[in-house]
Amino acid sequence: MRLYLLSLIFVFTCLFSCTQTAICQSDIPESNVKKWWKEAIVYQIYPRSFKDSDGDGIGDLKGIISKLDYIKSLGVTAVWINPIYSSPNDDNGYDVSDYRGIMKDFGTMADFDALLKGLHQRGIKLVMDLVVNHSSDEHEWFKQSRTSRTSPYRDYYHWWNAERGKPPYRYSLFDVNHDAWKYDSLTNAYYLHYFSRKQPDLNWENPKLRHEVYDIMKFWADKGIDGFRLDAFGFAAKDTSFPALPEGYEKNFMPYYSMQGNLHGYLQEMNKEVFSKYNVMSVAEGAGNSFKDAHNLVDADRNELNMAYPFDAVDMPKPEGYSLLRFKELFSRWDSAFANKGWVAVFLANHDQARMVSRFGNDSPEFRELSSKMLSTFIMTMRGTPYYYNGDELGMTNAGFDKIEDYKDMAALNEYQRLKNTGGDIQLFMEQLKFGSRDNGRTPFQWNGSTNAGFTSGTPWINVNPNYKVINYAAEQNDPNSVLNYFRKLTKLRKQNQLLVYGKYNELDKTNPDVYAYTRELAGQKMLVLLNFTKTAARVNLSSNISTAQLVLCNYDKVPQKNKYASVVTLRPYEALIYKL
Ligand code: NOJ
Repeated sequence: MRLYLLSLIFVFTCLFSCTQTAICQSDIPESNVKKWWKEAIVYQIYPRSFKDSDGDGIGDLKGIISKLDYIKSLGVTAVWINPIYSSPNDDNGYDVSDYRGIMKDFGTMADFDALLKGLHQRGIKLVMDLVVNHSSDEHEWFKQSRTSRTSPYRDYYHWWNAERGKPPYRYSLFDVNHDAWKYDSLTNAYYLHYFSRKQPDLNWENPKLRHEVYDIMKFWADKGIDGFRLDAFGFAAKDTSFPALPEGYEKNFMPYYSMQGNLHGYLQEMNKEVFSKYNVMSVAEGAGNSFKDAHNLVDADRNELNMAYPFDAVDMPKPEGYSLLRFKELFSRWDSAFANKGWVAVFLANHDQARMVSRFGNDSPEFRELSSKMLSTFIMTMRGTPYYYNGDELGMTNAGFDKIEDYKDMAALNEYQRLKNTGGDIQLFMEQLKFGSRDNGRTPFQWNGSTNAGFTSGTPWINVNPNYKVINYAAEQNDPNSVLNYFRKLTKLRKQNQLLVYGKYNELDKTNPDVYAYTRELAGQKMLVLLNFTKTAARVNLSSNISTAQLVLCNYDKVPQKNKYASVVTLRPYEALIYKL
């Protein structure tokens, strides 16, 4: 009754203020309608590499629990944790064998419950991966599906009976032959796997499968989790007649794999069955093939997902294809496409990418700290929900392994084998891995300067980056000017200034190849962000004098000289400045 009265009062207040001042929720652009997930600062934890509690060399849930106060101290408000479900670990948990179980390496359901409770007690939300484009081949559904063509689970997956001949070629991202069809003699048929052979694709055309997935989602939502990240879901819908695709399509397979068939129908059904019934957020992996796709995925009136996660920046081939001009242009383009409707994530790294500082900054001893801070300033001052990858708050760098034996990523190992089998250029591939391998982002979190960086008392599942003696939490915690403590200042600033979440973004000095400059503006308040992306001093032309500006944050220990208050400002190498105008 009390609630009913309160909502009536709210409706009347809104109606009244609309007639009086012409502002009510309906006048606010959709993207400025307040939501917790827009205001969230998401910290991504790769559980395998975060903290090992039992000495088996693999990070685990108890390890994360032991670091909850650290996570809280960062000022982040949500955690996205990579898959922790039961899995034979062909793809480090992205091959789920039981969606309601916890991976043995990581602990037990009691540990999970304690983790969730510990996060919630600290006011931090939890977002979980939902990996349902495919399961593991060791999932009970697949085990059953394989047994006979008449199994009730047969249609949970995509099968092609061999008497029809070989199925039309489908490219696999992880397969050693790039072949997404695997022959299974048990029933004389091929099954489809866009990723590895141990990751058979689920058949979303089957309503039984879809409802199994919704039940799984409800199981986790009932436990109290706060969101889902939909892994590879853009691939879930397929043309199951499997027509032949144009020769060479695999060089640009996204238009053939992503956003096919009834994908939007499945998402709307998922929304109706699950999202609409819980206060959970949903984030896509990717953003479709165009702005139109992305809007159709996340605009509020579509009732599908909450936010897109565009890959454009991390997909920019580096070092060849990257330039700051391209980088700026693409972020500005995304911002303007989503200025009024929809919402996107902002990130520069995750578990599938090289380390942020090695890729977009400068990981040399001279500039690592400055450029890490500068990149963090970018992520935390853009419009969109920041997703910040664990270890970047310390300025962790690429490990850049030289030997194939040091790599653990199945995708890299299979590609290496493929090149060996086909006489490909191994040397070139090793160079590419050194810079871009997913394992660069997966080396253990560097807690201190003791053996194995304090990550484990055993042998780590993947080598620790040898620079842990210099780059580690213990060293940074006590240094007020560390990358870590600078990151904390940024989270505080974002939480104190809603303009950094909702404020209008406006790029300045667009053709400047060295400096990224923009303002954020909301309700008469304005901030200016200046970022030098180079290792030399660089000038930025602001076209108006900022002599009355108030400096809010600077990534150098010494604040800038007076010349920083003119209309043309000279920035020091990798300098980042935030002003209140
Ligand atoms: C995207 C995930 O981020 C990646 O780590 C995984 O290998 C693939 N999807 C397959 O699940």
